[in-house]
Amino acid sequence: MIPERHRLRLMQLREEIRRHNYYYYILDQPQISDAAYDILYRELQVLEKLYPLEELADSPTQMVGGGVASGFTATPHQTPKLSLDNLMGEKELRSWLVQVATRLGFQPELVVEPKIDGLTIVLNYQDGVLQRGATRGGGQVGEDITTNIRTIGTIPQWLSEPLTMELRGEAYLSQDSFAKLNEERRIQGEPLLANPRNAAAGSLRQLDSQIVAKRGLEAWFYSLDWSMTPWATTQEELLLLLEKWGFPVNPVRFVSSNHEEIVAWCLARQEERHTLPYAIDGLVLKVNSFSLQQELGETAKAPRWASAYKFPAEISETKLLAIELALGRTGVVTPTAILEPVSLAGTTVSRASLHNADFIASRDIRIGDTVLVRKAGEIIPEVVAALTELRQGDEVPFVMPANCPECAAPLVRAVDEAAWRCPNRACPAQIIEGIIHFASRDAADITGLGPQIVQLLVQNGLIQDAADLYTLTQEQLQALPRLGERSAGNLLVAITASKNITLERLLYALGIRHVGQRLAQTLARSLGSLAKLHIISEEELTAIPDVGAKVAQSLKEYIARSENQQLISKLEQAGIKPVYHSQSSLHQAIFQGQSFVLTGNLPTLTRQEATKLIEERGGKVTSGVSRQTTYLLAGASPGSKLDKAREYGITVIDEKQFLVFIGKQ
Ligand code: IVH
Repeated sequence: MIPERHRLRLMQLREEIRRHNYYYYILDQPQISDAAYDILYRELQVLEKLYPLEELADSPTQMVGGGVASGFTATPHQTPKLSLDNLMGEKELRSWLVQVATRLGFQPELVVEPKIDGLTIVLNYQDGVLQRGATRGGGQVGEDITTNIRTIGTIPQWLSEPLTMELRGEAYLSQDSFAKLNEERRIQGEPLLANPRNAAAGSLRQLDSQIVAKRGLEAWFYSLDWSMTPWATTQEELLLLLEKWGFPVNPVRFVSSNHEEIVAWCLARQEERHTLPYAIDGLVLKVNSFSLQQELGETAKAPRWASAYKFPAEISETKLLAIELALGRTGVVTPTAILEPVSLAGTTVSRASLHNADFIASRDIRIGDTVLVRKAGEIIPEVVAALTELRQGDEVPFVMPANCPECAAPLVRAVDEAAWRCPNRACPAQIIEGIIHFASRDAADITGLGPQIVQLLVQNGLIQDAADLYTLTQEQLQALPRLGERSAGNLLVAITASKNITLERLLYALGIRHVGQRLAQTLARSLGSLAKLHIISEEELTAIPDVGAKVAQSLKEYIARSENQQLISKLEQAGIKPVYHSQSSLHQAIFQGQSFVLTGNLPTLTRQEATKLIEERGGKVTSGVSRQTTYLLAGASPGSKLDKAREYGITVIDEKQFLVFIGKQ
């Protein structure tokens, strides 16, 4: 039994540490010193050791770098955010249309919009200032993701009118951004995201807003509670109004009261769904008139005046010709299906994921089988099942090879993992993947050093590890089959520039198991330099916030290996010895993708100061107002820029609004 006094203290400590994590990681404004934080943290660790039966799962001590799920606060919506009933297939669509007409006694006008396959977000503006952004959650209460929402460049932080409202939209990743994100994950040996919806949701739930800012999220808005809209009487008017206020609104829509026309439009969109630059999983049909919407009303779960017409899942049948193994940076071996090419969701598919050996065994998938392949979401095809009734008798069960296909080392499997790994650190495939990771954007960020070039460099014996990159010469690069004089020169410049790598990036670039970007940041702050890694004990490591036993062990194992010691000393010889700079412009990128123009005299800030505050947060300051300008920051005697901004409908803010927004007032 835990004494009440200790139980309370435990809860108090967890809450306090969570709050300080938020100040430190999200707001970048630590409220206490690192030493004071450590004292709290250790006290919590001691209590948790003493009372191991107290629920641990959501304690800040259990959060290992990277994805943390429990870091957001719950926030209630002003009005419940209902979901929609689904209509599957043309028959259900037609019968819903008839049902609505019967209820009303005539065929009302409907608006049909694409159903964006993203994550629902709910925004609150007060007097024209964005106050809160939240997920939909169960409809009543969402998660407060304001900081992350602010990184979406197209969402206005201020409106040109002092409106107070709660509106709803969909945050999503374009197909391009989604493909790019997955490509980076593939390079880094991380599991691929199944579809843009998961990717958008995962991005918005990141605790590190700087990572969110890089993902290129976008959003579309489509709904406001009618009780709050004296400004519009129909859905169509509302969409135009939202657009006028500066919100992104999807231009694709169809308005009609004719059932045949509506059905034809829906079926045509279904046919063309893959030609859009973003993923949609259906269409939403809404009664256009707000007063008719009110008349139809809603059930506890969904409105009667709207429904979602869902596109059928896309599945094709084909033959499984072979199973190949693909190797990642950490040695994980992933079975991949080689298929007879088949057309699926608008593309030809000849490879698909089989996840892992357990997946294949549990579904009894055999080579030679006729299999069902599905585009999970929109992008990565996966084998879902074997049609066993079509077997001829010559299908061959898959046996996981005992050896690595690249280096022949015996594969191993950890007790708690589904994946098999090649344990040989000298395995050429792993070395190549490791160097690709080192050069990737969030690591050393060497532009132009893609997978093919790395492969060539390794195969030609020019490099054996990432440190060898810094010994390359123009002649060596130019001699490679794919590189001309100019691109060789550019690559050399990019390699040299990467010597200025920060400590947190370097820690991430080394590809140490369990050390993701977020944890690398924490480690950089605590270690101060790479050299410290040689001398710090496992105990001292576990005392670092967010570093658990697993991470500490992985770090010690890494540094104990001679090839890693050699790599680090080679990097040092190349002049790469970063030390941690606190405040290394760690402001959140809340102005990412936004462009400001300054005009007139600001009451307290000089132009340079204002520019610095904007640029530190990822924004741009330009001299002239154009249609691309996001905000005009205006002081006294603003002049012609103000007129121009008004003409273009650009939001004008004053210094006070600006300072409140960045949390300086
Ligand atoms: S209208 C009460 N319009 O799809 C009105 N929803 O299954 C509710 N969605 O979570 C929503 N695109 O957030 C509406 N153009 C659109 C939409 C849309 C995507 C989402 C919506 C909801 C889900 C419904």
